[in-house]
Amino acid sequence: MIRNMNSYPLYDDGRHKVFWLGIEESEDERGILTNQYLVLDGNEAALIEPGGFFVFSRVLRNVSSIVPTTQIKYLMYSHQDPDVVAGLNLWFEYAPLAKLIISDLWVRFIPHLAVLSAGRTMGIPDKGADIKLGDSVIRAIPSHYLHSPGNFSFYDERSGILFSSDIGAAAFSNGEWYLFVEDFKDHVKHMEGFHRRYMSSTRALRAWVRYVRKLGPKVIAPQHGAIFGDKHVGEFLDWLENLEVGIDVFEREFYGE
Ligand SMILES: [Fe+2]
Ligand SMILES: [Fe+2]
Repeated sequence: MIRNMNSYPLYDDGRHKVFWLGIEESEDERGILTNQYLVLDGNEAALIEPGGFFVFSRVLRNVSSIVPTTQIKYLMYSHQDPDVVAGLNLWFEYAPLAKLIISDLWVRFIPHLAVLSAGRTMGIPDKGADIKLGDSVIRAIPSHYLHSPGNFSFYDERSGILFSSDIGAAAFSNGEWYLFVEDFKDHVKHMEGFHRRYMSSTRALRAWVRYVRKLGPKVIAPQHGAIFGDKHVGEFLDWLENLEVGIDVFEREFYGE
């Protein structure tokens, strides 16, 4: 059952804070449910995966209850999908000092969406980048082909939270929703179809898993579905490593060969 929920703190050490930014019951009927996150270090804030049009008022309200939007330094986008970027024009207006961060591949496409994007866009090179927020660093981790050809996950070093973009996404059926994974085996049924169809390449997925294991995140927070903490981080990575997706299964699935 989905109820209206405001922001929820995922990490707080006094100086550095991370929040998940809420949900509204009505969103269930309008499109796939999405997660937005706020990272705050001292006076500087980064909004991770700011989201589409119909979530804007909820995200703005919840962000504003934590920090003035003039303190938002970055709007960080993992890739170019509408559920991630469609609220961009509104964010540019309500967070007047914020810069947009997205893969270099998508920089020249963004002006089609945001008339005010000139001079406010920072492209991330394919190999990734370290993004400074206050005294902390958020690392852009290459996640190309998972699913977009220019795709990044964002690793907040201080909290140990990896914002994994669509990797780890769960698509719940109507009326079903929970914030944290509790029963991994049961949760798989919400993820499997999504990953097999939207993720492009098994090889890309395994390369990402190998890299992420070295990072050792404490929490994995996707753009859809539920958050993985504690032992579920390892369970999730093991599951991904053994999953076949995209171009490696399409002949069988589409043509029966
Ligand atoms: Fe996507
Ligand atoms: Fe998405």
